[in-house]
Amino acid sequence: MLFKQQALLRQKLLVLGSLAIGSVLYLVARVGTLDRLQPICPLESRLTHPEPEQIPLRSLQFKRGLLHELRKGNATKEQITLHNLVQQLPRAIIIGVRKGGTRALLEMLNLHPAVVKASQEIHFFDNDQNYARGIDWYRRKMPFSFPHQITIEKSPAYFITEEVPERIFKMNSSIKLLIIVREPTTRAVSDYTQVLEGKERKNKTYHKFEKLAIDTNTCEVNTKYKAVRTSIYTKHLERWLKYFPVEQFHIVDGDRLITDPLPELQLVERFLNLPSRISQYNLYFNVTRGFYCLRFNIVFNKCLAGSKGRIHPEVDPSVVAKLQRFFHPFNQKFSQITGRTFNWP
Ligand SMILES: *[C@@H]1O[C@H](CO)[C@@H](O)[C@H](O)[C@H]1NC(C)=O
Ligand SMILES: *[C@@H]1O[C@H](CO)[C@@H](O)[C@H](O)[C@H]1NC(C)=O
Ligand SMILES: *[C@@H]1O[C@H](CO)[C@@H](O)[C@H](O)[C@H]1NC(C)=O
Ligand SMILES: *[C@@H]1O[C@H](CO)[C@@H](O)[C@H](O)[C@H]1NC(C)=O
Repeated sequence: MLFKQQALLRQKLLVLGSLAIGSVLYLVARVGTLDRLQPICPLESRLTHPEPEQIPLRSLQFKRGLLHELRKGNATKEQITLHNLVQQLPRAIIIGVRKGGTRALLEMLNLHPAVVKASQEIHFFDNDQNYARGIDWYRRKMPFSFPHQITIEKSPAYFITEEVPERIFKMNSSIKLLIIVREPTTRAVSDYTQVLEGKERKNKTYHKFEKLAIDTNTCEVNTKYKAVRTSIYTKHLERWLKYFPVEQFHIVDGDRLITDPLPELQLVERFLNLPSRISQYNLYFNVTRGFYCLRFNIVFNKCLAGSKGRIHPEVDPSVVAKLQRFFHPFNQKFSQITGRTFNWP
């Protein structure tokens, strides 16, 4: 008994000591090296049973320090026990679409103290080999989190892969599904550009976008081309709707997320039943980049990777117009189903 008390006292002293050292380190380290800091918010460990409806009084700084380490798979057993950390299946998944802004959406949602993101695309439901490994494999890919937090993962291939809706349904039929879309022609060109850059890195040549998107025999839009097919959002959504009611989806306007992110993020907070916590403070416009960066707190900020704003090749305007006309009826159907309208041509 006495030994136990002594051990407890020692642990407390250790904690106080590391708090002091932590604060100093914190000031010295400032931006950039923050990731390597030890947890400096031991007070949190007292909140072992937070009231379920309450977002715990945990500073974002703590989240950035400790949880950032944990996410990298570097949590010690002691930390996990001390903070009751768990690996949880996602409560919400960003299922697509490719080049719609899935990474930006995930990173921005991660500003919310109740959200923990899976850093990697897990590709559990779209990859047969991964899927065969079972749901516990999937769970172990998830970051450590506090039990009251929700985990979100994103894998844009889910949206267009045939088997995925049924597989997700089997895991959790009431899961929340997020889809971020951009204007379909822009998205297709962006999709093409990413593939093109991959080829260029390997010194390979690649077809022009026009040649892929338009069938040279018929002069019609080539619906066999994957970048075109992915942009027919309603076709894919209709497959998902065989399993999930439309209320379980939330559509994010990816073009608006870039120009004016906050209102879009507030809609997602509401959809996920989270208290509104992301504010204009968390999003600042970087003039050099022409893009919003994320501010987690006074010292920690993050700009999304530069490749996200790549320059698209010039596409023949008549091809752009043809594609826009082609997508138009599908877009209308998509809006009818989802109740979201867009500033698309
Ligand atoms: C864990 O930490 C060590 C040293 O602190 C580092 O070298 C290693 O890359 C980390 N592991 C991961 C998965 O980040
Ligand atoms: C399924 O997802 C819903 C919505 O996020 C969540 O409330 C529920 O707890 C989840 N069920 C399981 C078994 O994880
Ligand atoms: C591509 O070509 C350039 C110039 O010809 C060369 O310097 C480079 O090493 C090549 N890269 C690859 C991946 O082959
Ligand atoms: C703004 O963007 C530039 C260019 O990417 C970068 O060097 C700079 O650190 C950014 N500034 C802030 C405050 O994020």
